Amino acid sequence: MIPLSLQEIARITGSRLDGGADPSAVAGGPVVIDSRRAAPGALFAAVEGERADGHDFAAAAVAAGAVAVLGTRPCGAPALITDDVPAALARLARAVVARLPQVTIAGLTGSSGKTSTKDLAAQLVGRLGPTVAPEGSWNNEFGFPLTVLRADESTRYLVLELAARGAGHIASLCEIAPPRIGAVLNVGHAHTGEFGGIEQVARAKGELPAALPPAAAGGVAILNADDPRVMAMAARTGARIVTFGLAPGAAAGLAGPDFAAAGVRLDDLGRPSFTLVTPAGTAPVLMTLHGAHHVPNALAAAAIAAELGLGPGETAEALSAATALSRWRMEVHQAPGGVTVVNDAYNANPESMRAALEALRHMARGRRSFAVLGQMAELGAESRARHEETGALAAGTGVTGLIVVGKEAAPILDGALATPGWHGRAIGVPDPSGAVAALRGRLAGGDVVLVKASRAAGLESVAADLLAGGGLAPHQPVKETAQ
Ligand SMILES: Nc1ncnc2c1ncn2[C@@H]1O[C@H](COP(=O)(O)OP(=O)(O)O)[C@@H](O)[C@H]1O
Ligand SMILES: [Mg+2]
Repeated sequence: MIPLSLQEIARITGSRLDGGADPSAVAGGPVVIDSRRAAPGALFAAVEGERADGHDFAAAAVAAGAVAVLGTRPCGAPALITDDVPAALARLARAVVARLPQVTIAGLTGSSGKTSTKDLAAQLVGRLGPTVAPEGSWNNEFGFPLTVLRADESTRYLVLELAARGAGHIASLCEIAPPRIGAVLNVGHAHTGEFGGIEQVARAKGELPAALPPAAAGGVAILNADDPRVMAMAARTGARIVTFGLAPGAAAGLAGPDFAAAGVRLDDLGRPSFTLVTPAGTAPVLMTLHGAHHVPNALAAAAIAAELGLGPGETAEALSAATALSRWRMEVHQAPGGVTVVNDAYNANPESMRAALEALRHMARGRRSFAVLGQMAELGAESRARHEETGALAAGTGVTGLIVVGKEAAPILDGALATPGWHGRAIGVPDPSGAVAALRGRLAGGDVVLVKASRAAGLESVAADLLAGGGLAPHQPVKETAQ
């Protein structure tokens, strides 16, 4: 963070000094909510979570060098007292952004792919200058301002991920750090339970283009030409519209999206290659990420970088060099015995299930494949139908076997078993260890296993067990495979 005195922070956040806090003491270190990350000069924001109360860690934070605690009550340490910590962080972040006019802010949102695309965009934009981007999915009322607060005088670009669980969330994140460039990836079923339906999701995602400055002031809305709900957001913004999409129209004599991918191919591990088509030229891309769904993500990231001045050649090179920065999203590993494990256990919704099953189908050409699937949380009234569809989809993509984990995911099993010929190929197990046990009798060398569910299902442990060798029975003969 830029150095600010406690007095200034108190004024900006509307908090009062307490616990002997020295008004002239300067906080310039990181702003943290985890006391273990406190360092000399830090400001420690005490958050009351479900499991722990940050105020209990105030002393630890101060011992580690924190200048003060930002909290809702005195805690025996120098403090800034407010009645709303996230609101105070938001005000502080906004004030810091206002003092950094050299920073250009690019934000992106969508139902699926925000973190992956943010990681790609940050790796591209990082070639243009010092870039601050969130760690993992730091996109909510805490993670977003904490990320923004990492910016200082040396920062040129902020690449931010904006998440919503309801109307107004994205608009308020845009007030904290007003983006000049905003990209919307897609509108899907993620969190439809909280929103009430997909049209409400579209309205909420549209708050990003709606918050952009007009074209004359440099505003740029980057929209997915392949998603009609996203394209409809053009009517809600005065920003210049830039589009990305899979179909390069030029080949067919049509006006296609501004950023397109021609000749998309996937290799044996599902890694896409394509020709990046941009208004400034074309260049070949060979990605290290797995799954065709990363192609639109790459195009959105390319559009963001291009608007900031990165040319097509360097963009393509950076996309090809980019690696997955956030874990458990289509991580591909080799387990002992020649089993390939695809760990996509970070989260799940119907669209990302489809994307992962599609990638599995591709990777499995000539090999046996198993899908270990758990619940998709927060789908509300649509939950049963969407789970059944996913089961039918899994059966339809030709996986060898399906293991459905947990009772919340049971409709996936129903959907699969309703598919002709699937009796006995799909089974239900109560928990992750049941899934590993079920695989033990079935897996052989050369097989590919996809592990995917919402975080609540905890399926990353299935991937970890398989990688530790838990999937193959010790006596199992390992057959050689054609890869
Ligand atoms: N464009 C996309 N369409 C569908 N699924 C996607 C897309 N991009 C990523 N995914 C999948 O969605 C899940 C979440 O990806 P992530 O990048 O963390 O998105 P988010 O931050 O929006 O939750 C992962 O399983 C990932 O493989
Ligand atoms: Mg995310």
